[in-house]
Amino acid sequence: MASEETQETAGQKVTDTFYITTPIYYVNDVPHIGHAYTTIAADILARYNRLKGREVFFLTGTDEHGQKVEKAAHEKGLSPKDHADAMVENYRLLWRKLDIRHDAFIRTTDEEHITIVRKILQELFEKGEIEKRLYTGWYCVPDERFWTEKEVVDGKCPDCKRPVEQIAEENYFFLMSKYQDRLIQYITEDNPLFILPETRKNEVLGFLKNNTLGDLCISRPKQRLSWGIPLPFDENFVTYVWFDALLNYYTATKYLAPKEGNLKSQISSLKSAGDWWPPDHHLIGKDILTTHAIYWSAMLLALELELPKNIFAHGWWTVEGKKMSKSFGNVVDPNQVADEFGTDAFRYFLFREVPFGLDGDFSKQAMVQRYNTDLANDLGNLLSRSLTMLEKYRRGEVPEPVDSKDREGYEKRIKAWFTPREGLLTAFDGFLGRLEFHHALARLWLVINEINEYIQHTVPWKEKDEGTLSNILYTLCESLRLVALFLYPFMPSTSEKIWRQLNLEGEVSGMNLDAEAVWGITRPGTKINKGAGLFPRMEKRRAP
Ligand code: ME8
Repeated sequence: MASEETQETAGQKVTDTFYITTPIYYVNDVPHIGHAYTTIAADILARYNRLKGREVFFLTGTDEHGQKVEKAAHEKGLSPKDHADAMVENYRLLWRKLDIRHDAFIRTTDEEHITIVRKILQELFEKGEIEKRLYTGWYCVPDERFWTEKEVVDGKCPDCKRPVEQIAEENYFFLMSKYQDRLIQYITEDNPLFILPETRKNEVLGFLKNNTLGDLCISRPKQRLSWGIPLPFDENFVTYVWFDALLNYYTATKYLAPKEGNLKSQISSLKSAGDWWPPDHHLIGKDILTTHAIYWSAMLLALELELPKNIFAHGWWTVEGKKMSKSFGNVVDPNQVADEFGTDAFRYFLFREVPFGLDGDFSKQAMVQRYNTDLANDLGNLLSRSLTMLEKYRRGEVPEPVDSKDREGYEKRIKAWFTPREGLLTAFDGFLGRLEFHHALARLWLVINEINEYIQHTVPWKEKDEGTLSNILYTLCESLRLVALFLYPFMPSTSEKIWRQLNLEGEVSGMNLDAEAVWGITRPGTKINKGAGLFPRMEKRRAP
């Protein structure tokens, strides 16, 4: 899964990198649950890979050029840059609140980004990949793209269904059509995991096989749109917002990626992208699959750069059965959900409720249900009853385990979850490698519930034999340590809270999963720090 591996022999350093991106979001509006979804997904994978000892570059950011942004700024009486400067804070603050630990935040108004985009445009122009043409077409202002006569449906944009305008003007075109066959071959033969899920891959292939791919208009005359990157070979035009935006994934590796001597010195040589190219995953919503799978891939082929290892187009969130929209007044503000339920409960809900590739529906009712059942009952209770018993029966000190006291093989079954090959570790590697977040969480909850059942079966409060009781209490502490580790990518602050209540050394964020996910690391004699409950039940919290 990692993008680059330098394995050296016998005890020497093993370097392993993982590069993941989110879309860069428009600054014409405030972030909502959909933006939070993709970004949390990237954060989960970034945290998991860091925990696996990989060097991670997690990139997110904002898309700040183009007509939509220019229009939103004018409506507020601001310059586009001032508007972007103000709006970008909404994203930065939200990511902090949602515990997003990105390594870099790119803005397409960054000077370095603009410089590299212009260099790339120049290079493509000189290679004959960009040509000037007179073009007449139907233009959709909100989507900022041209459609052909055939594509337009009753005078409306086939994508957003809003009216299109006929425009005739000279423009520059990226000669995308010649890459059609290579794209088909790449998707079907060279890298079958390039586009996921499978249904999305088939959509792209269907499109490529049944249509003639056109060339892509990549300029806008300055008199119609001034808020963009000027073409280096014709300053009367700015580049199409998507051309500028997609390149962020590459430009960031040249000036934002963690690497010695990165920054401006590298901008001069386009071919040495450093260690980070190509990305392991571009996470996107299904709405922007065409731009990524087709436009972006063709751009990379033209630049003779490797294609990303994977583009994963996840599903779409609706709210209480309806499309989220300002006009319905049902846009969910992630800040509010996090305030009401807590960041971790929100993170949990989004990834437990719906498989990543499918559409999902958000409702407060479903959120409360998950909160009370999975978080308050299953996980919260497990921690609090285990630590309460430890305080009551062993004055808060982790006892010495007594293996011979494993009656009926209960402990053996629990320990089996934490053996390297058959246990959770292998399952997590598989699930998270395939972005099956809900499967990883379901498996972890299976284990949590098995530990709860273990308490029911062994009835520690009735246990007369001290050795047996010690064994049970040790098993509980050690299982909770391991649960905290696996929980970390999804619910980082809950995981750290459990870690602190168990009074374990260091922080989960600094652990190596492979080294720590083995049985028997908790030291007998450790004095626990039982703290507040993790997830007070919802009804109680609402009571005055
Ligand atoms: O498209 N459900 O930016 P954008 C799930 N700037 N995900 C959703 C969603 C929903 N209802 N609504 C939005 C752009 N998203 C361009 C991207 S990238 C080079 C340029 C998420 O602000 C999802 O990830 O409109 C979707 O692809 C993205 O937000 C669109 O964000």
